[in-house]
Amino acid sequence: MYVILLGAPGAGKGTQADILSTEMHLPHIAPGDLFRRALEEKTELGLLAKKYMEEGKLVPNEITSRMILERINQPACTFGCLFDGFPRTLEQAEVLDKALVDQGKNIDKAIYIYVPDEELVKRLSGRWICQSCQTPYHLISSPPKVPGKCDKCGGKLYQRPDDREETVRERLKVFFSQTMPLLERYRKQDKLIEINGNLGIQEVAKEILSVLKGSK
Ligand code: AP5
Ligand code: MG
Ligand code: ZN
Repeated sequence: MYVILLGAPGAGKGTQADILSTEMHLPHIAPGDLFRRALEEKTELGLLAKKYMEEGKLVPNEITSRMILERINQPACTFGCLFDGFPRTLEQAEVLDKALVDQGKNIDKAIYIYVPDEELVKRLSGRWICQSCQTPYHLISSPPKVPGKCDKCGGKLYQRPDDREETVRERLKVFFSQTMPLLERYRKQDKLIEINGNLGIQEVAKEILSVLKGSK
């Protein structure tokens, strides 16, 4: 099963992808996480992505698509995967469709998690993520058991530099102008599922799981 998670910054894509990948036994593919890891390791890709991420802009399609195609060609993705933050432009959606069709596969569902803007800002300003495994936490809605430490791997938690208010505003702008048009694309293909993301983390997960398990 190939599933896309769509949603504005802070909608809960990463949070839900963590839960769904365990429940559905699907690998989680997130370009944002891959870029942050590359930056941590100071690779050429990481340094290149840095300036776009810091400004809240998209990394060029060609670079992002190449990185994602490499992932979906790995054996772990033979039976499916969960895309979190990809595709984000119509061009990326076309590249992904073509790559899957070439392998006799298809996107099964595109899940759009919607959340009001003021809630997005609250979520991003209280978010802390794990430096090693990228798991997101929130000071109020999902705090770690030990302050500053990841429950899963013990890694150090930090605040993303792109969660600064002006960068968040730019990321939202980019989402509405470049990513929103994808909703129409998946609606036309009868693959779009809209989920109210303004509920508790477990409630949102339950909604998504019931849709995915019903459509297997
Ligand atoms: P990326 O890392 O994908 O950032 P994003 O899309 O802006 O999304 P976020 O990770 O900020 O939010 P999320 O929806 O994952 O929310 P989360 O679960 O953490 O991308 C970063 C950058 O990389 C981009 O700006 C771009 O430069 C580059 N990039 C990435 N993909 C690209 C692409 N395809 N093409 C080009 N460039 C690309 O939750 C947020 C917070 O809320 C957390 O604290 C969480 O604990 C909390 N929370 C979650 N759910 C709930 C809930 N139901 N109730 C209460 N709190 C909740
Ligand atoms: Mg995320
Ligand atoms: Zn961790």
